[in-house]
Amino acid sequence: MAGEVAKLQVSHLSKSFPHPEGDLLVLDDINLTIQANEFVTVIGPSGCGKSTLLNIIAGLDQPTAGEVTCDGRQVEGTGTDRGVVFQQYALFPWLTVRANIAFGLKMQGKSAAASRPIVDHYLQMVGLTKFADSYPKALSGGMRQRVAIARAYAANPAVLLMDEPFGALDAQTRAQLQDSLRAFWATEKKTCFFITHDVDEAIFLGQRIVIMGANPGTVKEIIDVPLPAERSQAVRLSPEFLKIKQDVWGKVYQESGAVAQG
Ligand SMILES: Nc1ncnc2c1ncn2[C@@H]1O[C@H](COP(=O)(O)OP(=O)(O)OP(=O)(O)O)[C@@H](O)[C@H]1O
Ligand SMILES: [Mg+2]
Repeated sequence: MAGEVAKLQVSHLSKSFPHPEGDLLVLDDINLTIQANEFVTVIGPSGCGKSTLLNIIAGLDQPTAGEVTCDGRQVEGTGTDRGVVFQQYALFPWLTVRANIAFGLKMQGKSAAASRPIVDHYLQMVGLTKFADSYPKALSGGMRQRVAIARAYAANPAVLLMDEPFGALDAQTRAQLQDSLRAFWATEKKTCFFITHDVDEAIFLGQRIVIMGANPGTVKEIIDVPLPAERSQAVRLSPEFLKIKQDVWGKVYQESGAVAQG
């Protein structure tokens, strides 16, 4: 990897928000290098700045200091090279499920005929084929989130930025979507930056886990996940997995304890 330009590089990034009692420092000197096709998961206590960091990488917000580069170029705004799945599903209520999923493809200039098989593929992946012609208001929260996921996949960005995308889903759907995300990542060669509150999910999906601390948000530690590239749900029961879980859990718990004590 030496000499290669990182897919994503976060350098000395800090972010403050204005606050009545003086600026609130949310992210403090974040440094992170993510190579092309890497799958990085991010875990840390509520309010430590995970979404803020993701928004800055997406180009939706600007850092107060430091910078983010993608393929060596400074991120100055959003781009089709970086797709986002937000913590709260963000769909166009006036478009059907199919049209929502096709949206990015249309923006890329693909015809309806060219988009159709792609949309069908991802509709099936998220289990919503039967709801292709429904409007978001007719769907449950979890179903809407699955539409948002399918839309991000269909647009096929090089970098996928996902903010607790499976948080609102039942355990079974969540496991299915974890499997399909791993498969999607492996076949389509994506760089994934995936935020979660769930230690198991962080381990199952990630090649590396970024553990953040709070007040202000910092990168506490980056842990390698030495599990095989091919992972089925059964890996969760392996001694290797449980060993990593014990380690990550201890570190995350320390962090949330620190938050609780202020
Ligand atoms: N636009 C904003 N203006 C002011 N403060 C903000 C803004 N966005 C976020 N914050 C503050 O920044 C801090 C970090 O918020 P952020 O949403 O990034 O946390 P998070 O780690 O994603 O939390 P969660 O796990 O609950 O989603 C919080 O204290 C929040 O109040
Ligand atoms: Mg968040």
